[in-house]
Amino acid sequence: MLIDLYENEWRLLLNFFIPYVKLLDKTRQGSKTTKKYDPLTPIRRTKTLDIPRIHTISESAHRIHNPFTPEKLATLGAALRMHPGTCVLDLGCGSGEMLCTWARDFGITGTGIDMSPLFTEQAKVRAEELGVVDQVTFIHGDAAGYVAEEKVGVAACVGATWIGGGVAGTIELLARSLDPGGVILIGEPYWRQLPPTEEAAMACLAGAIADFLLLPELLASFGHLGYDVVEMVLADQDSWDRYEAAKWLTMRRWLEENPDDDMAKEVRANLSSEPVRYATYTREYLGWGVFALMKQ
Ligand SMILES: C[S@@+](CC[C@H](N)C(=O)[O-])C[C@H]1O[C@@H](n2cnc3c(N)ncnc32)[C@H](O)[C@@H]1O
Repeated sequence: MLIDLYENEWRLLLNFFIPYVKLLDKTRQGSKTTKKYDPLTPIRRTKTLDIPRIHTISESAHRIHNPFTPEKLATLGAALRMHPGTCVLDLGCGSGEMLCTWARDFGITGTGIDMSPLFTEQAKVRAEELGVVDQVTFIHGDAAGYVAEEKVGVAACVGATWIGGGVAGTIELLARSLDPGGVILIGEPYWRQLPPTEEAAMACLAGAIADFLLLPELLASFGHLGYDVVEMVLADQDSWDRYEAAKWLTMRRWLEENPDDDMAKEVRANLSSEPVRYATYTREYLGWGVFALMKQ
């Protein structure tokens, strides 16, 4: 009983209400150490947690925050041959389209965690629209380090592998929530063709050419981590357009409605430059896919 108390009620109390401090920064000058603490309690930290506003402005009308269409998401769900009742965990679930449509179409249950309050709210609204509120739960929070209390049949991170510090770390994190024999889903970019220069890679919004692999290399890398690749669904240039080009109309309408907003200049600059940048670089060089993995 005591263990239960510590693991549940007491842990909840510590996590959310006890105003213990979080160390933000530590600097040393000679023998003197200066520490800077975040004065927020954990529950207030959760409330202020968000992603950069440019994304919630440009993707506010997106249901899928990746270069995937609803058809590709449905293809992936069918390809996984999940039984009704399969439990799915989705770290960085965005507006919850994967969990909500799979709950409707395949009878899965699921939990999604996302750092954006807007996307989390949209996910809850979508669950109501599709009549699946009893099957899915959406949590606003940081998914870094998140491990499900009960093991799941499918553990996913679709387009947010920074949550685990990269692909390998995210696979490790997801594996901690996974039933033996379960499936891990990783959504990740790869190079369709290698960019000719580092500048071209950066224009694809990568940090460097080395940030991503070619598709065969990416598939081989999963093997090196001890996983079989058991399925994959890839984006194509049309599905990339649905993700990228859909941002432009959203930004244009947002600008018309918010001409005096602090972000208006940045959004205007983005709208002016994005179509050409995207068509010249991302659309040509960057691929993206969701890869289903099972432990060897
Ligand atoms: C590229 S989007 C993908 C969203 C979703 N998987 C989809 O396919 O629509 C990345 C998502 O990760 C979320 N995110 C970023 N960092 C996060 C973190 N540390 N914890 C939870 N979610 C995070 C963002 O808010 C965003 O919704």
